[in-house]
Amino acid sequence: MPNIFISNHPLIQHKLSLLREKDTQPKEFRALVNELGTLLCYEATRDFPLVTKDIETPLMSMRTNKIRERIALVPILRAGLGMVDGVWNLIPTAVVLHIGLYRDEDTLKPVEYYNKLANYQTVDRCLILDPMLATGGSAIAVADILKEWGATNIKFVGLIGAPEGIQALHKAHPDIDIHLAAIDRQLNENGYILPGLGDAGDRQFGTVDLF
Ligand code: PRP
Ligand code: URA
Repeated sequence: MPNIFISNHPLIQHKLSLLREKDTQPKEFRALVNELGTLLCYEATRDFPLVTKDIETPLMSMRTNKIRERIALVPILRAGLGMVDGVWNLIPTAVVLHIGLYRDEDTLKPVEYYNKLANYQTVDRCLILDPMLATGGSAIAVADILKEWGATNIKFVGLIGAPEGIQALHKAHPDIDIHLAAIDRQLNENGYILPGLGDAGDRQFGTVDLF
């Protein structure tokens, strides 16, 4: 699949290992998700178009380059929220548009519960943020929602993907570039990624064993 990008950068691989460890507590887990968001965003924005601008340095005028497009970050609630700050720090002019989905435990199908999309005219390019691409159902649903809204230029930025989810997202939306830190082995019978990192939302928000 030509548009699946896995980053082998040592910092990304090191931080992902820390994230996977079962004893990593929510404070460190959130920091790692944030930092991985920054590093993956750096890779995912490599082809963003620039526009030439005239600026003044303290010494003279010069012609230089700036990001041309208006960018929207679209975190999938809850777990995608943890990636927002890390990406937003790199692209402070981006807007953040929230979409809330949870996976039904029995069917593993995504259920939409929140949608705060603005007027489509306000953005040119969307980055969907979600640490986990498991069956792919959530990412496909958000891509469907964004396209229906008018978005034409979408990338998915996540941390770990299962082969099943990567294939499903690519099949449903072949135009969407998928940026990940790792492709794991498979899904288990409950739709969890193996070896994975467990439940990304629960580990960030401290709700492991509460539901
Ligand atoms: C997780 C994860 C993705 C989804 C991936 O969210 O953050 O959104 O599962 O699974 P899929 O590829 O099979 O759709 P979850 O539904 O657990 O909600 P949460 O983020 O609120 O914990
Ligand atoms: N969602 C998660 O948070 N983890 C998984 O392994 C699969 C879906």
